[in-house]
Amino acid sequence: MSENTPGMSPQPGPVGPDRPPFERWRTSFPFHWDADELVSRRELLYFTVYASATMFSATFLLAVLGWLRKPAHGEVLAIARIGDVPEGGAHYFDYPGPDQQAVLLHLPGGRFVAYSLRCTHLSCAVYFKDESQELICPCHHGVFQVETGDPVAGPPRRRLEQIALRQEGDVLYAVAIAP
Ligand code: FES
Repeated sequence: MSENTPGMSPQPGPVGPDRPPFERWRTSFPFHWDADELVSRRELLYFTVYASATMFSATFLLAVLGWLRKPAHGEVLAIARIGDVPEGGAHYFDYPGPDQQAVLLHLPGGRFVAYSLRCTHLSCAVYFKDESQELICPCHHGVFQVETGDPVAGPPRRRLEQIALRQEGDVLYAVAIAP
């Protein structure tokens, strides 16, 4: 056994500059392994299992909360009277939930369309620019066509979610998120 075994106090050895540098270092900075709180493999395993279980539970809980808060698609909501939205104009509303912005557009030619204003790239809020008759996402300069909601510029690759409309008299209703 060497004279300075881990777990034991360093044994006094020859003193002076003749001693090897490591021996001198151990004498100057004695380290008592017994006093250290080592993490055993078992404790590390317990920690890993508990941490994984906690993360799994949190993810599961968030998924359940998200599912519970999911708005009902297919709710019927009166949006606007036809005469209130001029041709080439827009009317903003929330659909299908109170915090989900959407826009009703009166296209040149008389047709009405409605879209969710959540950008299909990274979910920024899109807005209608009436000068160019386009739907713009300011985050990364995404541009969507008003007639179809298709992306025409920027990073978005999917069209905006379209909202199905129904007309009763002179009132337009949002009836569902179009498939
Ligand atoms: S979030 Fe709309 S373009 Fe990136």
